[in-house]
Amino acid sequence: MTEAAPPLAGVIGWPVGHSRSPRLHGYWLARYGIAGYYIPMAVAPGDLAAALAAQRQLGFRGTNVTIPHKEEALALASEVTAAAEVIGAANTLVHLPEGGFRADNTDGLGFLANLRQEAPAWIPQSGPALVLGAGGAARGVVWALLEAGVPEIRLANRSRARALALRDSFGPRVVALDWAEAQDAVAGAALIVNTTSVGMGGQGDPPVSLDRAESGALVTDIVYTPLVTPLLAAAQARGLTTVDGLGMLLHQAAPGFEAWFGRKPEVDAELRAAVLAP
Ligand code: ATR
Repeated sequence: MTEAAPPLAGVIGWPVGHSRSPRLHGYWLARYGIAGYYIPMAVAPGDLAAALAAQRQLGFRGTNVTIPHKEEALALASEVTAAAEVIGAANTLVHLPEGGFRADNTDGLGFLANLRQEAPAWIPQSGPALVLGAGGAARGVVWALLEAGVPEIRLANRSRARALALRDSFGPRVVALDWAEAQDAVAGAALIVNTTSVGMGGQGDPPVSLDRAESGALVTDIVYTPLVTPLLAAAQARGLTTVDGLGMLLHQAAPGFEAWFGRKPEVDAELRAAVLAP
């Protein structure tokens, strides 16, 4: 590759057309006047290794990977960050000069950065967190909350086996609950997080009633379609502090942008508006 080649990065997924990442990175590239490109790449299951080799050949600095490639990316990596290792999936890859690539998972840190920015009064050590759901997204959230110093995570999932699997990965600060127990676990929780798909599209009841929530509880949802999910609407009706899920998407993108394009990007209202624009 020549020195003058513009920096390239992108997102690999299947499908990839719905991804908001090209718009997000495109906005930052324009804002900072960087003559780089961030490209969506539709790569079928099983073709990831070939696609990454082609990227290297073409001089790509790195790439995001999304469904269904997040686990395989981890398996193919020559370096794996602690976060990606424990979460069991990668979303941000950086091609290394000596060959191979480093795999990171920025979902958890993105979740945390969003909470810190939007609810600066929240203190992780202040009390237990109730996390609803035990899927891929929940793993990143649980990892980040433990890193931040949350003393106890009450983890409730519809299928108990997945909640138990998370507890086994993350240790005794995670308490696995049956889905029916989530209701009782609302009481005393300093933070309530929905990582399930319940509320996507804005229809239906919240995954849990907030009748017994503490008045100081912070409530957040990683679903951002709509921005105000049934859970966040219920929280706002009770006067609780809420943080929507869009910021997690924006913050998880920042480490990749910095690694590929050499500038730490800002997450602010202008970026939100650019990503939300129809
Ligand atoms: P993601 O990567 O976004 O976490 P996922 O791995 O498919 O996606 O996980 C979806 C989560 O939403 C799971 O916790 C799932 O519960 P199960 O493990 O029991 O499937 C949860 N979920 C989806 N629909 C739900 C519903 N109707 N009620 C309760 N939980 C639901």
